[in-house]
Amino acid sequence: DKERKLIIAGNWKMNKTVAEALDLVSDLKMELASIKEVDIVVCPPFTALCEVSKVILHSNIRLGAQNMNEHQSGAYTGEIAAGMLKEFSVRYVILGHSERRQYQKESDALISKKALAAHAASIKPIVCVGELLAEREGGLMEKVLDTQVRGSLAGLTKQQMEETVIAYEPVWAIGTGKTATSAQAQEAHAFIRKLLVSLYDEATARRVRIQYGGSVKASNARELMSQPDVDGALVGGASLEVRSFGDIIKNSI
Ligand code: G3P
Repeated sequence: DKERKLIIAGNWKMNKTVAEALDLVSDLKMELASIKEVDIVVCPPFTALCEVSKVILHSNIRLGAQNMNEHQSGAYTGEIAAGMLKEFSVRYVILGHSERRQYQKESDALISKKALAAHAASIKPIVCVGELLAEREGGLMEKVLDTQVRGSLAGLTKQQMEETVIAYEPVWAIGTGKTATSAQAQEAHAFIRKLLVSLYDEATARRVRIQYGGSVKASNARELMSQPDVDGALVGGASLEVRSFGDIIKNSI
């Protein structure tokens, strides 16, 4: 009975052939057919979006992409524009994942441009933020989150902000099996929401959904989702199998 509907998304990262993607999504569709309490999103690689979109048509599963370019079209070799994602009914796009911040050197300024471009195409961005282990240990968590939230959401109107999902993914918890405790997650989420109050207002901040990401699994989902400011999960490894992703969703209700 949260005021915000939970949103649980699977970030498949650079995994799955088209055939494997179709297997997984067909199984998920059956397994999760009765779930109405959670917004369910799968984010396959670009190469599987087209086929996956056909399978989940008329289901309760929504499609997300893992990245997009900030421009609408043009000479950007290897890039994908929002309009191209729209062709496959993509509703969400993950932006500024820590892996892209690290390997593609994505900056907060670039991420905010992408978020604006996503909104312009009516695609909801899932904007990722999160501190490194050294930053947390150095007492810099709040400073890092403050900079990332301000920078990567810069320029969004209230209305756009309400339709943006923030994913708090502490980098030290990603793919490490080392989940943040529910108290650590709640603390960071509450900090982000307080920041949204100061950047926007109370009502806007209350509507924004903040997901937790980092070694979410069936066994810790319920505890994490029970925190007042945790409104869903962005799941990596455990989203690659029907059993684990299905159980995360069922255990969260
Ligand atoms: O975007 C989700 C992610 O980075 C978390 O990955 O494998 O720790 O669930 P994982």
